[in-house]
Amino acid sequence: MKNIDPNHIAIIMDGNGRWAESKKHSRLWGHIKGSQTAQDIVEAAINKNISYLTLFAFSTENWKRPVSEVQFLIKLLERHIKKRKADLLKQNVRVLCVGDLTPFPDHLKNELSDIQKATSKCTGLTLIFALNYGGKQEILQAAFKAAQAAFSSSSKLTSKEKFLELFESHLEFSTIPDPDLIIRTSGEQRISNFMLWSSAYSELYFSPKFWPDFSKQDFFEAINEYSCRQRRFGGLKHMDPIKESLA
Ligand code: FPP
Repeated sequence: MKNIDPNHIAIIMDGNGRWAESKKHSRLWGHIKGSQTAQDIVEAAINKNISYLTLFAFSTENWKRPVSEVQFLIKLLERHIKKRKADLLKQNVRVLCVGDLTPFPDHLKNELSDIQKATSKCTGLTLIFALNYGGKQEILQAAFKAAQAAFSSSSKLTSKEKFLELFESHLEFSTIPDPDLIIRTSGEQRISNFMLWSSAYSELYFSPKFWPDFSKQDFFEAINEYSCRQRRFGGLKHMDPIKESLA
């Protein structure tokens, strides 16, 4: 039996630098092409009626890159958001951001805040930009906040299940369904600190193409392959494995 199309697709957009270097261009050119690919894939997700699309646009580890590349990525993101705002609104796309935005410059933070406000009532695709996001950081922060809430509250925590509920409510992705499909481009086959908690039962799809070469057709092929996978969540039928094991 075929799976229905994924509700939530998350993408590790990898290979901009290698794509550019293979063409004897600067890595920055690769990021520009990568931002165009991001636009194409958002359109493809809209055409496919996907409900949630997460793009890993800047990781907590990306600060380790040369300052010039980091500054360029920040400018590119800002320009992309500014340029795309009117179209996204027209396309009924709701934009959200996850990650710690504090270290970003005010002009990027303002653009992000504007687009989230402007699109907050949109009911089509939810497009999530993961920015200065790290999966371990998300888990650590949620555990810390849940522990603080548990210790300061007079109501005692009576079960692991109750703590799980509290913990999950503090995750950055708490209001977003778990990703059904995670795509990584560029031939690398690892998860690189992306959505560590919510990807527990995601299907993984690795494309050999560098992100700037990843086309709408490639995106549809990934969805097609997903629809042929058998998802058992560790059991014999669809169920939430973590909640079941704690019951
Ligand atoms: C990985 O390529 C990509 C990134 C670190 C950032 C992703 C950014 C973009 C796709 C462009 C901006 C995005 C938007 C949505 C405007 P890499 O530099 O790690 O490539 P490499 O592994 O070949 O060096």
